[in-house]
Amino acid sequence: MYKLNSHIDTDGREYRKNFVHYSSILLHYRQVMQQVMQGGPEKAIDKHRARNKLLPRERIDLLIDPGTPFLELSTLAAYEQYNNAFPSAGIVTGIGVIHGRETVIVANDATVKGGTYVKETIRKHIRAQEIAMQNNLPCVYMVDSGGVFLPNQAEVFPDRNDFGRIFFNQARLSAKGCPQISIVMGSSTAGGAYIPAMSDECIIVKNQGTIFIGGPPLVKAATGEVVTPEELGGAEVHTTKSGVADHFAENDQHAISICRSTFETLQPLEKQTLVIKEPEEPLYDPRELPGIIEADPKKQCNPYEIIARLTDGSRFHEFKARYATTLVTGFAHIMGYPVGIIANNGVLFAESSLKGTHFIELCNFRKIPLLFLQDITGFMVGKTYETSGLARDGSKLVHAVANTTVPKITIITKGSYGAGNYAMAGRAFDPNFLFMWPGARISVMGGEQAANVLAQVKIDQLTATGKPVNMEEIEKMKNEIREKYEKEGSPFYSSSRLWDDGIIEPSQTRQVVALAIATTLNKRFEEPRSGIYRM
Ligand code: COA
Repeated sequence: MYKLNSHIDTDGREYRKNFVHYSSILLHYRQVMQQVMQGGPEKAIDKHRARNKLLPRERIDLLIDPGTPFLELSTLAAYEQYNNAFPSAGIVTGIGVIHGRETVIVANDATVKGGTYVKETIRKHIRAQEIAMQNNLPCVYMVDSGGVFLPNQAEVFPDRNDFGRIFFNQARLSAKGCPQISIVMGSSTAGGAYIPAMSDECIIVKNQGTIFIGGPPLVKAATGEVVTPEELGGAEVHTTKSGVADHFAENDQHAISICRSTFETLQPLEKQTLVIKEPEEPLYDPRELPGIIEADPKKQCNPYEIIARLTDGSRFHEFKARYATTLVTGFAHIMGYPVGIIANNGVLFAESSLKGTHFIELCNFRKIPLLFLQDITGFMVGKTYETSGLARDGSKLVHAVANTTVPKITIITKGSYGAGNYAMAGRAFDPNFLFMWPGARISVMGGEQAANVLAQVKIDQLTATGKPVNMEEIEKMKNEIREKYEKEGSPFYSSSRLWDDGIIEPSQTRQVVALAIATTLNKRFEEPRSGIYRM
C-alpha cells in the first residue's frame, strides 16, 4: 500500500486558525463530558456510597478484564433535557471485554432519580440490545432501578420501542444464543423485575438487591399486607424460596466476581476471521486532526489529510483515484484491522455513486469492514444532473449501503446533510456503530439553505395571491429558521436524542474504530447479496 503525503503546514496560519477554533470546541466537549460523568447530585451519590454500593462506572471497571478499555456509548443521552436532571439518561451502556468476550454492558445509575427510565433511558437500553443482536454479543445488566419514571409514563410505556421492548429483546437475544446475565445490585421493581427474571442467569446482592412485580407500598395499598422489601423480594428469598435468582452475593464486588465466573462457562464462538496485522501508528499525528478540520462550515476538509492521520503507517491503497474524485475510496488498516474507507471530498454526483457502489461490492466480496467518513452536503442538484439520471445512480449507492454484508462504521467528521447522510451510512442505514466528532453538524440541510428555501416558498405564495412581500417579515422568519437549525444541528442535540452512539474526540477515532471492528467479528459476515439496481 502507498503512503499518503500530508501537505499541511502545521506552522501555517490556516492550520493554527483551525486548531484554535477546534480547541475551543474540544474544551467545551470535555467539560460537558466531565460534568455528565459525575452522575446524579452529590446528595444522591453520598447516599449511594453510604449503602456500600459502587457507582455504575466503578462496577463496570471491575467487571471487565483488567487493563482493557470500555467503549462507552451515548454518554450525553438526555443532555440539556429535563433540566439536566438525567445525566447519561441515568444509564451507562457500552462494550467491554469479559474473559476475552466482547460484551454489551448496561448499568443503571441509581444516583439519577433512583435509576428510573425516561424516554432516552429506554432508547439507550434498547440501542445497547440492538448492538448485541447485530453483533452476536452477550449482555450483562447491572440492575439498580426504580423502573419507569412515573410522571412520564405516556412517553415510556405503551409503544413498540418502549419499556416492554427490553424484555422482548431479552427473550430474542437468549433464543439467538446471546447469553443474558443480570446482577441485581439494587431495586428491580414492577416491569423492571422482568430484567432479571428474563435473564439466563441471575445474581443478587444480599440486603441490597430486590426483585418484585409490586413493591411494599403497592402491596399494602392493594391487599393491606405489610411487608419489608427484603421479605418481599430480597436475595435470601429469591435464592432459597422463589428461585427467581440463581446466585447469592455478599456485596457488589462479590456479585461481579460471580458474573465473571459465569463467563468462564461460555463456550467460544465461531468468529469472523480477518487478516489482522501488527498495529502501527500513522506517520502523521492524529492529534493534528483539529487543525485539519476547516473552521469555515462552507469549506470541505481534505479527506486525504484525515485518512493520513487515521490509518496504520498512513498507508492507503486508493481505488479509482482519478475517477469521480468527490468520493474517495480505498483500503487501509486501522490498529491492524483491514478497512475499506469511503470518504467525502465534495458533493455526490452520479459517478461518485457508481464508484461507491463498486467499492462496497469489493468490500462485500473480500469481507472487509467499511468505514464511512461523512462530511457531505448532499447530492448535486440541477437540470443537467437530474435529466442524466442522478436519482437512478444515487439509488444504487443507497441500495449498496443498505445491503452491505460486511459491518459498517460511520464517523460524522463535519457536515451530514440531506440524502448525503443516507448514502453515507447514516443512522437509518443501520451502521453497526455511528459516532460524531464534536464539531460535526447534522440536519436535513444547512440552516442558511433552509432559511432561503422557506423564504422563497413564502415569497412565491404571497406573489401568487397578489399580496405584498414584507422583506422585514421574511428576514425575521429566516433568522428564526437559522437559529433553530443552529441549535438542532449540533452533535450535542443529536447525541442527547440517541441519533448516534456518542461523540468522540478526533484523536480517539483509531481506537474507537478498532474496538468497534473487534466487536463486529463475533458474527460471521454473510455472503454478498444485493437488491435490484436500477440500470
Ligand atoms: N418514578 C419517578 N420518580 C422516582 C421513581 C419512579 N418510579 N422512583 C424513584 N423516583 C425518584 C424519587 O422521587 C427521588 O427523586 P428526587 O431526588 O427528585 O427527590 C429519586 O428518584 C430517588 O428516590 P429515593 O426514594 O429517594 O431513592 P432510594 O435510593 O432511597 O430508593 C427506589 C430508590 C427506586 C428503590 C425507590 O425510590 C422506589 O421504590 N421507587 C418506586 C419504584 C416503583 O414503584 N416503580 C414502579 C415503576 S414501574
